[in-house]
Amino acid sequence: MNKENKQIILTGDRPTGRLHLGHYVGSLKRRVELQNSGLFDEINILIADDQALTDNADNPGKIRDNIINVVLDYLSVGIDPAKATICIQSALPALHALTFYYMNLVTTARVSRNPTVKAEIQMRGFADEGLPVGFFAYPISQAADITAFDATVVPVGEDQLPMIEQTREIVEKFNKTYGDTLVLPKAIIPENETQRRLPGVDGKAKMSKSLDNCIYLSDDFKTVKKQVNGKMFTDPTHLRIEDPGHTEGNMVFAYLDVLCTNDHFAEYLPDYANLEEMKDHYRRGGLGDGICKKFLINVLEESLRPIRTERAKWEVDIDTVYDILLAGTTKARETTNATLARVQKAMRIDYFDNRRIISEWEKLLKSPKV
Ligand code: TRP
Repeated sequence: MNKENKQIILTGDRPTGRLHLGHYVGSLKRRVELQNSGLFDEINILIADDQALTDNADNPGKIRDNIINVVLDYLSVGIDPAKATICIQSALPALHALTFYYMNLVTTARVSRNPTVKAEIQMRGFADEGLPVGFFAYPISQAADITAFDATVVPVGEDQLPMIEQTREIVEKFNKTYGDTLVLPKAIIPENETQRRLPGVDGKAKMSKSLDNCIYLSDDFKTVKKQVNGKMFTDPTHLRIEDPGHTEGNMVFAYLDVLCTNDHFAEYLPDYANLEEMKDHYRRGGLGDGICKKFLINVLEESLRPIRTERAKWEVDIDTVYDILLAGTTKARETTNATLARVQKAMRIDYFDNRRIISEWEKLLKSPKV
């Protein structure tokens, strides 16, 4: 068990693409705050390349390429390798072993009920083509990720709640079967609805690469401007400037809700003191979409510029980034190996850990046969 009552964070991402604004408001920003809060003894961030392979088995190159993209995104938003351990999943063999043991504690019926897995099976066409066993089992591997670090807290997006729930069930089952061994984790998700799931610029439920409705953290100013001016969904009933407008379901306001501050108004749109005043005007009529979009572009630029600048610094020093990954992964290997040893001991399959099993076997052979 986690005897010292340590507060330990484990979270992670699949390296299948560059990270976007949805990742930022839904999770990365919070991670940086948690990292800097001083409330945690350990922060671990896992680049889940094995999990990414479960639906990209034919394209490991894509995963390899995106490992560097994701690390650069982490570093550029302020994840600090001095405070957080960044590691690569495939280089942590204890996770594979734990997954294998945990698979015996979960029924296929239970995984089939996981709503996130269900939705993903549909989205990826596995319902028709056939479902890879590895993909089906990824929630179990995620339980291995979480428990291997003795995580107490798992900051994630809302769609990951079923994974944490599954992990908690595995922990309870394991501890009941083999004795108190694993730490029961808790999920934390963003407080506000829009942060939990920032819609795409087109108003679709989620930012997604395949829908081309993302704003990436590494996008340049021109690209951001093009996404906002060319694609952003506003209010289809707001035809003339004088018409009353709707701010609900309007992406400009959804994004402003999570990004803008009163300082942004002072700097770029001093007609209003704050977002409420701006929204009031929009609802009354008389405030055009062009002005709103222009303001949003400025707000986005102010949020993204420091990230982009930071990224540029790391991009020319990949040697250092590699060393960060190597150091993080080496440290994580120790942590996860220690958990595996504890698990094998609890299961009494720690055959070569000491020679105690010899006397047990000798005794067994001497005892009368039943
Ligand atoms: N499934 C997560 C996602 O798609 C990534 C992930 C893998 C993860 N292992 C994890 C998240 C452990 C939190 C904890 O975003």
